[in-house]
Amino acid sequence: MTSSHFISSTSLVILLTFHLISTISESAVPSSQTFTYVNEGDFGDYVVEYDANYRALPPFSSPFQLCFYNTTPNAFTLALRMGTVRSESLMRWVWEANRGNPVKENATLKFGTDGNLVLADADGRVVWQTNTANKGVVGFQVLPTGNMVLHDGKGKFIWQSFDSPTDTLLVGQTLRAGGPSKLVSRFSAEKNADGPYSLVLEPKGLAMYYKSPNSARPMVYWTSSEWFTIDKGSLTNLTLTSNPDTDEGFLYYLTFDYFTTNPTSGSNRNMAFSRYNNTLSYLRLEIDGNLRFYTYNPNVQGAAWEVVYTFLDRDSMEGECQLPSRCGKFGLCEDNQCVACPTPNGLSGWSKDCDVKKVTSCKASDFGYYKLQGVDHFMIKYTRGDGPTKQTDCESKCTKDCKCMGYFYHTDGSRCWIAYDLRTLTRVGNSTHLAYIKSPNK
Ligand SMILES: *[C@@H]1O[C@H](CO)[C@@H](O)[C@H](O)[C@H]1NC(C)=O
Ligand SMILES: *[C@@H]1O[C@H](CO)[C@@H](O)[C@H](O)[C@H]1NC(C)=O
Ligand SMILES: *[C@@H]1O[C@H](CO)[C@@H](O)[C@H](O)[C@H]1NC(C)=O
Ligand SMILES: *[C@@H]1O[C@H](CO)[C@@H](O)[C@H](O)[C@H]1NC(C)=O
Repeated sequence: MTSSHFISSTSLVILLTFHLISTISESAVPSSQTFTYVNEGDFGDYVVEYDANYRALPPFSSPFQLCFYNTTPNAFTLALRMGTVRSESLMRWVWEANRGNPVKENATLKFGTDGNLVLADADGRVVWQTNTANKGVVGFQVLPTGNMVLHDGKGKFIWQSFDSPTDTLLVGQTLRAGGPSKLVSRFSAEKNADGPYSLVLEPKGLAMYYKSPNSARPMVYWTSSEWFTIDKGSLTNLTLTSNPDTDEGFLYYLTFDYFTTNPTSGSNRNMAFSRYNNTLSYLRLEIDGNLRFYTYNPNVQGAAWEVVYTFLDRDSMEGECQLPSRCGKFGLCEDNQCVACPTPNGLSGWSKDCDVKKVTSCKASDFGYYKLQGVDHFMIKYTRGDGPTKQTDCESKCTKDCKCMGYFYHTDGSRCWIAYDLRTLTRVGNSTHLAYIKSPNK
């Protein structure tokens, strides 16, 4: 009895030791799979988004390829590109590792035996990494969906690029209440930094925000208000999917599949469709704050891309006047067009240079207000404002607040909005909607 017990526990120790050794060796990346790519050499020849220069790296899964690209000299972004040479169409950037934190010539992307993927500048400064050292990673792959993954021995993803979107959501990619819960626009075609717009997954739906340099709080300019059926609970996650319509046969939908809490349930909403397989599609929060679905059809030479739906558009539920910068720094928008420049002396013709006269003083005696009738600010449509409140109270709130550029007031309902940025005002043809724009006395 005793001796057999002794033997079995010894073999248990041996077994455990053996298991431990084999797990360690299993969890290391085979050296044949490791790589170091250096950002050096000639640029590629094909036309890519933002008129960038690029260097293609070996990881490729049609139509996705890992690249370094730059739009300003010696400031490179590690990114996934979508598009094939054969289609002879623009190639677009659908995922980025290091927006706003570029690397220089001779930077390296290294995948070591420890399973960590590290982007470092030539001087060794680590710019970006997956933080997956010694977490069981055995391999790296770019999948045909555009998801770049680090997986363990069982094929489970320890890290995936789908979990860190920038401004683009590919088919199969998910926004989650616990994060990643938003897309952030690009600053400009030339400057790869965060722009002022964001698309956020909120408890009751999607919302778009504009972040003005004048104010800490982003302003909402669009919400998906009635799209999702959520009674008591809240959204858990939302995935962009592509679904062939089996009845029609030749219709393919781009759909938001979503889950809610209380009770936990799943549902979906078709957002757009195309007449061909649209599995290779994405949702993009654009530089101008608009939201679009792009579909890539590699079989159409020279014109593989199609914009299948634009959210704020003359043909959509919401028009272009809702875009905060549709009419520049300060302009009046009507029927998707910029029609006037509001000045203290009335409306003048619109140009993209229209702007308010800056009030530099905080002293109430140094400025006044001029009135516009029948206009709304872009934030009004999707927010309730304060009130009921008296117009004089609304005005004194703005007067006391140095950063307030004007206030908006609806006389029926007595509601008040303080504006920290003006940008695009919309003509509403309702004389109860008033705007009071702060203006220097001289
Ligand atoms: C990059 O490294 C190579 C090889 O070490 C070197 O010859 C080259 O000058 C470096 N380029 C820059 C821009 O530093
Ligand atoms: C979304 O949430 C549901 C419910 O919690 C869960 O079952 C599902 O796996 C989630 N989907 C994704 C893609 O995370
Ligand atoms: C659509 O294309 C994807 C690959 O791009 C493929 O996996 C899928 O089976 C296709 N779906 C249909 C319905 O043909
Ligand atoms: C003006 O707007 C108010 C809501 O703010 C609405 O109740 C009213 O019907 C509108 N009037 C016209 C003429 O559109």
